[in-house]
Amino acid sequence: MTNSKNVCYYIFGKGSIKMLPKLLNSRRTNYTDYAIFLVDSYFINSQFVEGLPKQQQDMLYFVSTVDEPTTNDIDSLYEDILQKKNSIPCCVVGIGGGCTLDTAKAISNLLTNGGNAEDYQGWDLVKAPGVYKIGIPTISGTGAESSRTCVLINKNKNMKFGMNSEYSIFDQLILDPDLTATVPRNQYFYTGMDTYIHCIESLKGRHRHPIADAFSEQALILCKTVFGSTDMQCSENREKLMVASYLGGCAIANSYVGIVHPLSAGLSTVLNIHHGLGNCLVMNVMEEFYPEETLEFHEFVKKQGVELPKGITARLNEEGFDRLYESTIIHEKPLINALVEDFKTILTKSKVIEIFKRI
Ligand SMILES: [Fe+2]
Repeated sequence: MTNSKNVCYYIFGKGSIKMLPKLLNSRRTNYTDYAIFLVDSYFINSQFVEGLPKQQQDMLYFVSTVDEPTTNDIDSLYEDILQKKNSIPCCVVGIGGGCTLDTAKAISNLLTNGGNAEDYQGWDLVKAPGVYKIGIPTISGTGAESSRTCVLINKNKNMKFGMNSEYSIFDQLILDPDLTATVPRNQYFYTGMDTYIHCIESLKGRHRHPIADAFSEQALILCKTVFGSTDMQCSENREKLMVASYLGGCAIANSYVGIVHPLSAGLSTVLNIHHGLGNCLVMNVMEEFYPEETLEFHEFVKKQGVELPKGITARLNEEGFDRLYESTIIHEKPLINALVEDFKTILTKSKVIEIFKRI
């Protein structure tokens, strides 16, 4: 049995970003206390960044979202902070999508635990609580705002793995649906579907937890409403998807994902495909494992008129497919959850490669 933790505090509602100065001030007990802002590079040169409650001693980094964060990225950022400051910050503020929120979590953990990011990739390896951290999502779906992990690509080990720890959970969230108003349409769909996929994988898995099931069921209802509607990005639907994303992240704190996420992790590791798109590309060909949900997914794609790129693996050679297989099969927990203890008897190497060839 697991002793579960969720985010302690959250503020939800349009305009709730206005609460950030007050929350930050409550962390500043000394005039030298500084905060670190990690902001999605999407907001470079924006009025939004100009308006952040940043003080002179604070640090601001933009987190690139061209590629998903790597352990090397986190180590370099940590080194830079150590060189510029000789104390730990009073708060880390992550503002952005999953890449930025996960970067904030990983930096928060490293600042108090030391070492290298890869030392904590796995289950419950973080020894001490990280720096107090506030998460502010600007896109909905990853569940990074409420999950107990922060996923990083480890290029040296050819794998994508999270710091799965209760210390990776944000201390405070600001969930402001106004912040998702400018998300490009395809991106909104790909990322939103991450929640749908978390929930169907969790509900179809062998490991069940009644509270995770309840979170997942409610999140799925919201996802179906949003993606089955004619305007998935209207104000009301952005609110719904933000709630669904939060609930989906809570669900996977008590359960495991299934087959889609490991295959998607392979695409990220080998081909630098972003998580949301990778999930959708895999979900598109999951008839054998999730037949009803795959059909429903096809209906969502059609209804929303979003584009799914084709032929992603067309140029890969044998070695490339070998790497895809290795970086998929390493995710034992979700694959055991989805299939059987000896999951490689079902998900054979030729089966995995056949799936990737259809993507
Ligand atoms: Fe995900």
